[in-house]
Amino acid sequence: MQNFSGTIDEFIKQACESIKTEADGKPALCAVSGGVDSAVCAVLANIALGDSLTCLFVDTGLMRKNEGDQVCEMFESAFSINLVRIDAEDRFLARLQGVTDPEEKRKAIGEEFIRVFEEEAAKLGEIGCLVQGTIYPDIMESGEDGHKQVKAHHNVGGMPTNIEFHAVIEPIKLLYKEEVRECARKLGLPDSFANRQPFPGPGLAVRCLGEVTKQKLALLREADAIFTEELEKAGLNDEVAQYFAIIPGLQTVGVRSDERSYEDMIALRAITSTDFVTAGSARLPYELIETVADRITSEVCGINRVVLDITPKPPGTVEWE
Ligand code: XMP
Repeated sequence: MQNFSGTIDEFIKQACESIKTEADGKPALCAVSGGVDSAVCAVLANIALGDSLTCLFVDTGLMRKNEGDQVCEMFESAFSINLVRIDAEDRFLARLQGVTDPEEKRKAIGEEFIRVFEEEAAKLGEIGCLVQGTIYPDIMESGEDGHKQVKAHHNVGGMPTNIEFHAVIEPIKLLYKEEVRECARKLGLPDSFANRQPFPGPGLAVRCLGEVTKQKLALLREADAIFTEELEKAGLNDEVAQYFAIIPGLQTVGVRSDERSYEDMIALRAITSTDFVTAGSARLPYELIETVADRITSEVCGINRVVLDITPKPPGTVEWE
């Protein structure tokens, strides 16, 4: 392990001990998103704290198609951990109204998450501590620990400074993605968690460039679902590290039913990577890309053009914002 001198078993043991010490007998809330990072934290915190732990899944309205239901089903079938689901779409979208700058967007989302967590913690009684699945690349890219800033990850640089929680516990903050996946397997988490592709905390907001609107999100969700469906059908979803659609918020001229159209464009991104600190463009079969483009332009009303992003990281980042 790169930042921990010991085995995975030793790491798990030490992480549980420090969660217990940091929680200091207070109730704990663990923010889960369905991703492997927060799922590993939830299991570690459950081992360390037992019944004083509540897991919280916040549906921000920035999730992919049907994702909220899928995450809750995955969670409920894999663990016997108390999970509370909060529908916070209206407040997140209201908070993002008029926000176009990528960093401002991340900070607005980071702050809104914390306010929702605080409100839910207060409902449960005392506001104790918050457990969250920050990993080392989030810290690096947010410009902490001696690194140069790339972007304020919602859970690090995007966090507000005035927080009511008595402590924010980040049990896996020294780990890289592949090490988190190893931990997940050691802890017996199903592959649906251990191998799940990353999804950013700010969700579709960083794939919906410029102002986030319900209408742009709806187009993006449909296009993204078609891309996912075709990759899964081709059996490529396990080979490609991360794949998704982006809505740049750019309209272009096209032709539909012999008439001029002026509609939105969708970009597709598929990458190879293990640590997500660097990434390459995944070489998808051309026929697959054509099928996806055909389906998106014919099935998603309001999209008349599809482009493919083949930029490696660096110089591009994985997400467009
Ligand atoms: P970038 O875009 O920085 O992405 O090259 C690297 C990996 O991190 C994910 N990502 C995030 N995850 N909060 C997260 O939890 C964020 O703010 C965030 N930004 C990017 C991204 O999806 C990729 O896997």
